Amino acid sequence: MSIDIAVIPVAGHGTRLLPSTKSQPKEMLPVGRKPVVQYVVEELALNGIRRSMFITGPGKTSIENHFDWDDELISYLRTTGREDQLQDLEYERFDMEYAYTRQRRQLGLGHAVLCAQPFVRNQPFVVALGDSIIGLHAKSNIIQRMIDEYDRSDDIHAVVAFEPVPKEHVTRYGIAKPHGDTADVFELEDLIEKPSVDEAPSNLAVAARYVFSPEIFNALEQTEPGKGGEIQLTDAIRLLLSSGRRGIGIRLSEAERRFDIGNFTSYFHAFTEFALTDPEYGPELRDYVRGLLED
Ligand code: G1P
Repeated sequence: MSIDIAVIPVAGHGTRLLPSTKSQPKEMLPVGRKPVVQYVVEELALNGIRRSMFITGPGKTSIENHFDWDDELISYLRTTGREDQLQDLEYERFDMEYAYTRQRRQLGLGHAVLCAQPFVRNQPFVVALGDSIIGLHAKSNIIQRMIDEYDRSDDIHAVVAFEPVPKEHVTRYGIAKPHGDTADVFELEDLIEKPSVDEAPSNLAVAARYVFSPEIFNALEQTEPGKGGEIQLTDAIRLLLSSGRRGIGIRLSEAERRFDIGNFTSYFHAFTEFALTDPEYGPELRDYVRGLLED
């Protein structure tokens, strides 16, 4: 059964990116020419998703505005002879339905996903975290590969994307305990949210993309607050695994690095790399940066 529905949690405060995120969502920060969340939706559209539900929170309405069809702007560009700029609004025409709901209390990522239950109901679905871009310019088919794995067997209830991280960074992520060896696709034995370096069962970190059966909602309802006092999605997956449901891990390929727009270091990396590889502005920017570095 093919999956065409995605849940995009965007309710987080973005405190690690203050002051930039004081009055705008981190998901609307530009990376090169486009806001982060547009790349996420482009990736979803490329992977066959046709319905997206955003889990929003206070101060996030600009995300909704961004995906609205703006007739006024289109006719303004036409009447002022700027037709060539209409291509920048092509994404408004994606074959995608949008829905928005608010996470009315900030109780964690697991709770945010649970807020999608009335929309998703009894269907399998994708979760794509709204602050992470997968692959340069979001050219990734990881979600399609994850859906293919999910479709392989009825007893699979979670497929999670992973990428290796330096050992000292395991404290920032959900970390996999693979069953047996870690090929590109592997059986998940367990998952630990933000372990210490010593506790970490591997260096494979959850990379912001998931596929779930609706069973995850039952698990989330039973999940107690965990790390940081929040209802963790990782803990709900753990509950699925401990009750005998199968979970699959799948590694991002080398070309599919995750660009995390959750802190300034990785945001700067992402912006620099996307701008330097922009087909129109990249070549001139490379010369400019080269000049700066030679001084
Ligand atoms: C969340 C998840 C974590 C995952 C990370 C990146 O953490 O809880 O398991 O590794 O996203 O996908 P956060 O960045 O919200 O602290």
